[in-house]
Amino acid sequence: MVLTAGALWPGHAIANQALVQKNACIACHQPATRVVGPSWKEITEKYSDGKITAEQLAANIKGGSSGKWGAMPMPPQLQVSEADLKTIAQWLLDGAK
Ligand code: HEC
Repeated sequence: MVLTAGALWPGHAIANQALVQKNACIACHQPATRVVGPSWKEITEKYSDGKITAEQLAANIKGGSSGKWGAMPMPPQLQVSEADLKTIAQWLLDGAK
């Protein structure tokens, strides 16, 4: 297990919150409550088994998603830069803290 940036840089958590805000994810995702989409906590718990890589999760965000969580689909998030996608995906896999 490699040390994540979050362990080295305490400001990381705030930076990630700003990132999901900047990319308008928070219109549909909240930290612990399901609104339009699943909460960050639910996503973190579902993928905490290490079966999915940050690259795969980033691709799922970019391409949109449907049928995994409920009736509501997520439209493709094409506005998000590759760097932001990767950072957000890794943040989710690391527990969204
Ligand atoms: C218009 C509302 C909406 C927006 C905006 C949105 N999402 Fe979603 N998101 C959803 C819904 C609804 C689902 C559940 C889709 C499903 O059932 O497969 C979802 C699912 C997800 C998942 C789980 C995907 C999976 O493969 O299980 C992740 C991760 C995610 N969103 C991240 C993001 C990020 C990051 C952003 C911002 C770049 C974002 N979402 C923007 C509505 C949204």
